[in-house]
Amino acid sequence: MFVDERQFRSFLSPGEVRETILSIAEQINKDYEMNDKIVLVGVLKGAFMVMADLVRELHSDVRVDFVRTKNYGKSLSTVGTVTLLQDISMDIRDKHIIIVEEIIDSGRALKFLYDRLQAAGPLSLRIATLLDKRSRRLVDVHVDYVGKIVDEQFLIGYGLDLEETYRNLPGIHALRYPN
Ligand code: IMP
Ligand code: MG
Repeated sequence: MFVDERQFRSFLSPGEVRETILSIAEQINKDYEMNDKIVLVGVLKGAFMVMADLVRELHSDVRVDFVRTKNYGKSLSTVGTVTLLQDISMDIRDKHIIIVEEIIDSGRALKFLYDRLQAAGPLSLRIATLLDKRSRRLVDVHVDYVGKIVDEQFLIGYGLDLEETYRNLPGIHALRYPN
């Protein structure tokens, strides 16, 4: 697949993405051992690749579900509102939930989702993310499993999009000159 080298620089190769996924899987496997009550909740659309690769590395028989959030007011100066476009599809009261994100930025979408799932009364609720733009955090959320902490920059590939394109790139690339 073609990426314009003048516009983007390689950030994580497919192999490095894989290693990062494996490190998250290892931590989850260690923490939960064999557990048949785990539900991984992927946040659409961005987390679909992380979900696909992560579930295949877990030792427990996990269930999968997906939610979709919509952020209004992307700019830092606005108090963004988040709504759910797609909710979970199962009763999670007797389940251990792990929310799966590809990247956390302000944390607003995640905080909204966390509170919402917590209100449904799961046995436990944790968060996993491939990438964490920690310096951009606006709301406080505790992230249990972090693949990599990254600097403030715009990333594409492996689920991450720029206006809905580039999600299918196997590696992750950074925009060279953000405007
Ligand atoms: P938050 O609510 O500000 O944390 O929004 C996080 C969401 O914004 C992620 O789940 C992504 O969908 C999107 N996002 C944040 N940073 C990037 C990026 O660098 N590239 C593409 N999407 C991003
Ligand atoms: Mg997302």
